[in-house]
Amino acid sequence: MKKSDLCRNPAAARNQASPLHVAIIMDGNGRWATARSLPRIAGHRRGAIAVRRTVEAAPKLGIGTLTLYAFSSDNWQRPASEVSALMQLFHEYLRKETEECARNGIRINVIGRRDRFSPALLEDIEYAEKHTAHGSTLHLRLAVDYSARDAIMRAAQLFKPEGEPTREEFRRMMSKAIHSPVCPDVDLLIRTGGEQRLSDFLLWETAYAELYFTSRMWPDFEEADLAAAVQAFYARERRFGTILEAAAG
Ligand code: IPE
Ligand code: IPE
Ligand code: MG
Repeated sequence: MKKSDLCRNPAAARNQASPLHVAIIMDGNGRWATARSLPRIAGHRRGAIAVRRTVEAAPKLGIGTLTLYAFSSDNWQRPASEVSALMQLFHEYLRKETEECARNGIRINVIGRRDRFSPALLEDIEYAEKHTAHGSTLHLRLAVDYSARDAIMRAAQLFKPEGEPTREEFRRMMSKAIHSPVCPDVDLLIRTGGEQRLSDFLLWETAYAELYFTSRMWPDFEEADLAAAVQAFYARERRFGTILEAAAG
């Protein structure tokens, strides 16, 4: 089946053979904790468990690339205690999960800036990426110290086209700027926690993404929620600026 058929025919899209790229803005950890009279970091800890659940569920749902927004460049502005707890949690996650990811064919990749991490964290990021590089079941991209606007600016600095500039070349620079291999565009963007905004996440890669907002707080996000979002995606009609053949008459 041709890719153009997948775009034009929603029934065909439901049988889409290519794995999905799903991106998630994992929001609501703080409110989850506050609602239970717990410190915000307790919400982040539960959030890390939800990450594990989601990573496990993703391949079963036809997801080939999963990009998770874990820490934005603007999140450095939070109180120092929350920032250091988040960095510690991220570091713990990498230490605990790298071996299992390697066993399960999950390729880990950390996207964003790298010049503000501690040397020890940086070392573990590089180890995780190298050690899981062969994984082909799922490409897991963790966005940490990530800002889409900064990524676009860095890509623009790297972009030196010899002839007519192409989107493909710019896409390569975008990937380079965030230390990622070149990936397909985002098919489905999910945001938990009830807000309906992008908060500087993947502004270039989501040009034609389907958006899905849920009031579920991230620590409560389950496999069934991910399945519901994927199901909603397949019920949508993606047109990419064109019109359906039937409508064209
Ligand atoms: C998302 O949850 C995690 C990070 C931004 C690190 P929040 O911490 O933003 O939770 P809320 O939005 O305050 O509930
Ligand atoms: C976006 O959430 C960043 C992450 C989920 C990591 P925020 O909670 O930081 O976003 P705003 O401040 O509500 O826009
Ligand atoms: Mg938030």
